[in-house]
Amino acid sequence: MSKVKLTLRGLQDLKIQGRKIKMITAYDYPTALLVDSSPMDMILVGDSLGMVVLGYESTVPVTMDEMIHHTKAVVRGARNTFVVADLPFMSYQASKEEAIRNAGRLIKEGGADAVKLEGGAAVANTIGAIVAAGIPVMGHLGLTPQTATALGGLKAQGRDAAAAKAILADAKLLEEAGAFSLVLEAIPAQLGELITRELSIPTIGIGAGPYCDGQVLVLHDALGLFQRFVPKFVKRYAGLSEIIAEALDTYCGEVERSEFPGAEHCYNMKADEFAKLMEEQLT
Ligand code: KIV
Repeated sequence: MSKVKLTLRGLQDLKIQGRKIKMITAYDYPTALLVDSSPMDMILVGDSLGMVVLGYESTVPVTMDEMIHHTKAVVRGARNTFVVADLPFMSYQASKEEAIRNAGRLIKEGGADAVKLEGGAAVANTIGAIVAAGIPVMGHLGLTPQTATALGGLKAQGRDAAAAKAILADAKLLEEAGAFSLVLEAIPAQLGELITRELSIPTIGIGAGPYCDGQVLVLHDALGLFQRFVPKFVKRYAGLSEIIAEALDTYCGEVERSEFPGAEHCYNMKADEFAKLMEEQLT
């Protein structure tokens, strides 16, 4: 039986019922198909695609056009999974109007069900404006990779009481602004638990401990496809890099030894047609 696509109401019910929410990133059609046929509740077309798919040093250079291109591919493969797409850096900071326009593009052109953006108090009004335009918004607090330089690098946030209090205050602001859910990245498990208890909207953790309402991972980290660096919070569920490297070695070896293609991979001419061809060659 194919699964039923989650609704915002259904997501809220999962929190109320204490059932964990499962989310993972995807950036293309084949992985979206695989995720769609798993029990995953939500897909994030994260701007992490800049690093794990496009080879940028960070998420900062990712553009709206790149996000739309990848979101479209994911949506084509994920017919029964709720898709959230990231607003990339500087697509929502300049003005509320620009934020609404870009969020609208991810929904209308990309086909996403909701958008996600990073930040606390500074983006609360923007979130309110996008929600008022009819677009569901997921917030993102703690380690916010688009502004990692300002945070002192890609490192855990909210580790002292004052910093933790500020993140909790931001979380409450984003809920009041109308966010339907929050991603909490790289914060102490105790803070993840506190925010989850204090909010009525679901929290989705990535490096925020086991007490969040749900968990999200970057697909390429979870499947062992991205090796440049592996954050502490990543669990590798498969070693696809090793499997792919072995397959490529085997292919190269078989081509070198003329073992590939085999007879089963070849097209054949009918014997009479081949005879005719050879006859013509000789005349
Ligand atoms: O871009 C992304 O993949 C994300 C996750 C780290 C939550 O924002």
